[in-house]
Amino acid sequence: MNPMNIQMVDLTSQYRKIKPEIDEALHRVLDSGMFILGKEVGEFEAAAAQYLGTRHAIGCASGTDALQVAMMALEIGPGDEVITTPFTFVATTETIVLLGAKPIYVDIDPQTYNIDPAAIAAAVTSKTKAILPVHLYGHAADMDPIMEIARKHGIPVIEDAAQAMGAEYRGRKLGGIGAMGCISFFPSKNLGAFGDAGMVVTNDDVLAAMLRMIINHGSRKRYYHEIIGVNSRMDTLQAAILNVKLKHLEQWHEARRAAARFYNTLFKGKPVTTPYEAPYARHIFHQYTLRLPDRDKVAAALAQKKIPHAIYYPVPLHLQQAYAASGKPAGAFPRTDRATAEVLSLPMHTELTEEQQRFIAQAVLEAIGS
Ligand SMILES: Cc1ncc(COP(=O)(O)O)c(C=O)c1O
Repeated sequence: MNPMNIQMVDLTSQYRKIKPEIDEALHRVLDSGMFILGKEVGEFEAAAAQYLGTRHAIGCASGTDALQVAMMALEIGPGDEVITTPFTFVATTETIVLLGAKPIYVDIDPQTYNIDPAAIAAAVTSKTKAILPVHLYGHAADMDPIMEIARKHGIPVIEDAAQAMGAEYRGRKLGGIGAMGCISFFPSKNLGAFGDAGMVVTNDDVLAAMLRMIINHGSRKRYYHEIIGVNSRMDTLQAAILNVKLKHLEQWHEARRAAARFYNTLFKGKPVTTPYEAPYARHIFHQYTLRLPDRDKVAAALAQKKIPHAIYYPVPLHLQQAYAASGKPAGAFPRTDRATAEVLSLPMHTELTEEQQRFIAQAVLEAIGS
């Protein structure tokens, strides 16, 4: 079973291919002894800002922290509302609630799985302090109408680009379209560190200055604390790794896109909904996610063959035990409910072979009797 040693994400094979570069970068940091805000952090921030086309990139400790510090920079707190999607990783909601604000969920677009711009307009109130779209699976949310609503009401947009480093919307890299973009370098992301790391990008000088202070105890000058902050500096060793890996990122995106195209050909003409790529998007396939009416049956068949697979995400956030206080009952977001019941992500990474993909696709098709 799983004779091909298929993995959901193959990080070690990728590492082996760039080992000399990575090891050298790591040893430079070890030899320097500069573990906190060493020069590699600034170097990676500059390279990431250039790659994304933003004025500023502020490294931090994780994608979750990126969301938290971005909302802190906007002084979001008790009494405030943030409009977001219920179909995402928990961090998006967790950080809103931690700051004392309230997530206001709206349903998703069934094709892209991202927040439905048409539903956002109806959710805006005098308490709305931010709109927080998520670019799920590496596919852009429809940013033009979202920015339009935001401009009309004077509300900032924070892009959760945790899964979308390098993905595009109408030729622009995500993260730099809203007031701030939050990125995760969790190891399995398209650009993954060897531990936790994250980043906030912005074109706004004032927000950038705030963010720099917030991630470092609210301080510009050591032991002088101007605002309330946190300790969320990007680790120097992670920055050194990310600096090496960033140079390979475009090639890796292309490898994932090629793997996605190959899956698509294997499922062509079959009763399987393959991932949608909107005309405005460059999908980076952080996940390759199918929609299957018989999802649970297929998942069981893959499990039996020891083929890795995942459900992102099985429970929408408004129904999670910890966040049930959002006051939205089951059934409030039918398109989200359907997605949670039907999505199934297949192995997707830069080292996937066509032979492995054939084996995976065949197992899916067998399970649905096709
Ligand atoms: C949509 C989304 N937002 C936020 C995060 C949080 O990122 P991190 O795991 O780096 O804290 C993730 C990470 O998986 C994510 O997928």
